[in-house]
Amino acid sequence: MIIIKSSAELEIMRRAGRLVGRVLQAVANAAKPGATTAELDQMAEQMCRAEGALPAFKGYRGYPYSLCCSLNHEVVHGFPRKEPLREGDLLSVDFGVLLDGFYGDSALTVAVGEVSPEARALIDATRRSLEAGIAQCRAGNRLGDVSHAIQQVVEGAGFSVVRQFVGHGIGRGLHEEPQVPNWGEAGRGVKLKPGMVLAIEPMVNAGGYEVKVLKDGWTAVTVDGKLSAHFEHTVAVGEDGPRILSLT
Ligand code: MF3
Ligand code: CO
Repeated sequence: MIIIKSSAELEIMRRAGRLVGRVLQAVANAAKPGATTAELDQMAEQMCRAEGALPAFKGYRGYPYSLCCSLNHEVVHGFPRKEPLREGDLLSVDFGVLLDGFYGDSALTVAVGEVSPEARALIDATRRSLEAGIAQCRAGNRLGDVSHAIQQVVEGAGFSVVRQFVGHGIGRGLHEEPQVPNWGEAGRGVKLKPGMVLAIEPMVNAGGYEVKVLKDGWTAVTVDGKLSAHFEHTVAVGEDGPRILSLT
């Protein structure tokens, strides 16, 4: 069942989402050569708790940290580390909070210093694919319209859509119905209604779409070792279009 949120609930989700957006912006600004992802994790958790929120991922199915930090060929769910970031790294950061009973969830990929032209293009295509998916979040459209729009942008840029992970509904649960695949057919799937809230999160590989999870039980990496990027927003379906809840 897809849970419809009231306007009062959406206002709480906006506050949760804004906090996630602010934290990720601070994390992105701090992701310079020499910084460590362990420091970024601590910064994210402190900012979150200072606002009376809980880090949503810490302890979720045993995930040990607040922030997911996925470097280069890591796709999602990478662990923060004590090794310093290096010029040329591609860093995906994913963060969620629980505030006043509701979750917010967002992710972005940043270039650490100067990165390769391919890394730049991958970041750009992944961000544009998320924007294209969000633009389809209007009442009367179908979920497949969102999925298809993302896939078109990704494959049009010559990259591939990860199949093993998908976006999700979000609200009082971090993961609610429906699942939101980043590939699919336009005009298919459930009809979008005002008050539905989706965490849309394309994961895009520079090479093939295949990924595997490392022995730590969490870190997903590309099988071919090529780069991967990830962007995510928490988005409400509105009467007259999408409302991105995880903007700063
Ligand atoms: N954005 C991801 C998701 O919603 C982050 C989950 S990380 C986990 O699925 F640790 F919480 F699993
Ligand atoms: Co998510």
